Amino acid sequence: MQKIIDRIDELIKIINKASYEYYVLDNPSITDQEYDDAYTELQRLENTYPELKRDDSPTLRVGGEAIDKFEKVTHASPMLSFDDIFNEEEIMLFDERIRKTISKPEYTLEPKMDGLSGSLIYENGVLVRAATRGDGITGEDITVNVKTIKSVPLRLTKDINIEVRGEIYMSKLSFERANRERVQNNEKEFANPRNAAAGSVRQLDSKITAKRNLDFMAYFIPNPEDYGIKTQEESIKFLKELGFVTNLKLNGLAKNSKDIINYVHDLNNKREELPYEIDGVVLKVDSLEDEKKLGMTSRVPRWGIAYKFPAQEVLTTLNEIKFTVGRTGKITPNAIFNPVHVAGSLISKATLHNEDYCIEKDVRVGDIISVRKAGDVIPEVVEVKLDRRKDNSIPFKMIETCPICNTKLIKKDAMHFCTNDDCPSRKIEGLEHFVSRDAMYIDGFGERIVEDFYNMGFLTKIEDFYHLYKHKDELMTMEGFGEKSVNNLLDAITESKNNSLERLIFGLGIRHVGKKTAKILAMYFGEMDKFMKADYDLLKNIPDVGDIIAKSITEYFSKEENINLINNLKELNVNMNYLGEKVDNSNEKIYGKTFVITGTLSESRDHYKEKLESLGANVTGSVTSKTDYVLVGENPGSKYDKAISLGITILNEDDYNKMINE
Ligand code: IVH
Repeated sequence: MQKIIDRIDELIKIINKASYEYYVLDNPSITDQEYDDAYTELQRLENTYPELKRDDSPTLRVGGEAIDKFEKVTHASPMLSFDDIFNEEEIMLFDERIRKTISKPEYTLEPKMDGLSGSLIYENGVLVRAATRGDGITGEDITVNVKTIKSVPLRLTKDINIEVRGEIYMSKLSFERANRERVQNNEKEFANPRNAAAGSVRQLDSKITAKRNLDFMAYFIPNPEDYGIKTQEESIKFLKELGFVTNLKLNGLAKNSKDIINYVHDLNNKREELPYEIDGVVLKVDSLEDEKKLGMTSRVPRWGIAYKFPAQEVLTTLNEIKFTVGRTGKITPNAIFNPVHVAGSLISKATLHNEDYCIEKDVRVGDIISVRKAGDVIPEVVEVKLDRRKDNSIPFKMIETCPICNTKLIKKDAMHFCTNDDCPSRKIEGLEHFVSRDAMYIDGFGERIVEDFYNMGFLTKIEDFYHLYKHKDELMTMEGFGEKSVNNLLDAITESKNNSLERLIFGLGIRHVGKKTAKILAMYFGEMDKFMKADYDLLKNIPDVGDIIAKSITEYFSKEENINLINNLKELNVNMNYLGEKVDNSNEKIYGKTFVITGTLSESRDHYKEKLESLGANVTGSVTSKTDYVLVGENPGSKYDKAISLGITILNEDDYNKMINE
């Protein structure tokens, strides 16, 4: 037996060394075949002698049993982040501010990795826990998932206790691969590698995480003095020694704002060729002693700051302005351009909103345009390169008839509409909306499938979703469908009958009734019948509803076909009741009032939000003059300052508890 234990130890050593050389040093000393042989032998031994499998075995990286939920964990010290800055002037101001305390500062400059931060805890050199940042105070235990990340050492090179923080991210290559796979499976593509990484690390089944091929870049030790470390640069070197992937080669040192600005430019130029996404530069005062002198504000450390690159812009050619018809009949012009990589994804179209927007931008087919992703997510045309315009270009002209059904368009405010209720394009959009994530959320219905089913005649109106099972045999013969996927789809359709009322209300696609309003209405009325019968005056007086929405709802229910739809769904056993907590309108101080929550409270923000909403309050994300109360926890952010400047009533947790119990 001892021989086997020794062999297992030896194989783990070989594999760990090879992984370290491959992932950290980028300099492997054994071939892939030798690595595979060692790995297979280890797997074989562990299968034969499961009692000898070590807790830090590299075979754990394939993932383990699926779990029901993520446990909450409290961080030993808060996981903070830095304030963001966006231009050179702010870099200079940062340097000036530091110089008020430190006469000759030195800075370390690091690429700002675009993923999600994670904390790893090692005991005696073995990874025992990994957690997400969460709200900075408590995060979620993602240990099994993080163990699947090959660049996370399961055992360090030293048998020490240490917490290491860094970024969990997805490389550009893995992102493209994951999205290719999602397209093949008719799943929605990830918007960017950051979302992909966040989605992958929060999988209850770690085998899925393992397949996504995430990475980890270590950049921070919360207690560096415990290891005799005196500078940030030494921290990174120490992390590398321990077996982590670090950015040691790309990091820089600076003595003044000029050095910092040069580094920012250089790194921005290298951005395209890096194997992962970065969204800026993190500036940190290098000396830990200086960091201590600088300390913290109420929210963030004073010794560092995050400079964010401007949204990336790329030039391309505008090939077509294509008009699409939304479910309300709204016509949208879209720019269709040669596909380009912007901030991590390949984009080929962007909305041009409406006629006025097109005229103002003066976009013309054939133009060279610059595009970017607004907020790094939604593609947008920034400008037309007028100096590169061809002489024979033709100015934009709005269409006059629907591109799908040819009905004459009408203009309302800045928008054009197709008024034909039977326009196929409107129908398809309406059907897609019904099954979408915030509506009935019927998994497995990508946009293309709805359109295919519509064209095949299986889906023409909403009720048809619940009759699809009658076409089961035909569906199974369609390309991309087998018995299993059809069964899954039909099960998901049946399952959707149990949804709470707000999903159905939103799914109906009543104009101006968004997700939030649908929830308010479902909570208020509790059942569909009461909602359908509500008159304009009653609707208008519900908090957050108002004139436009009330008119739109009464107009919707004045149409016989809509009443028939509801009756048909009722007969098909689609749930017509609100299943969440009902609105209690007995607390006048809270009912109908607008709240903003900021800072760290004793429970999660969702806890307070749910409670307040159940009492008829409106909880929003930003402080405006319309805000009635700001509930403030510890380390509040800029929302607190804004509330003070606007003279809005501030509540601490005690005030809140009193108010709730009144
Ligand atoms: S240091 C006290 N270094 O960007 C803050 N953060 O505000 C310690 N990030 O949320 C973080 N790359 O998740 C640090 N090289 C880097 C980073 C980095 C990305 C993230 C981090 C944090 C935000 C900084």
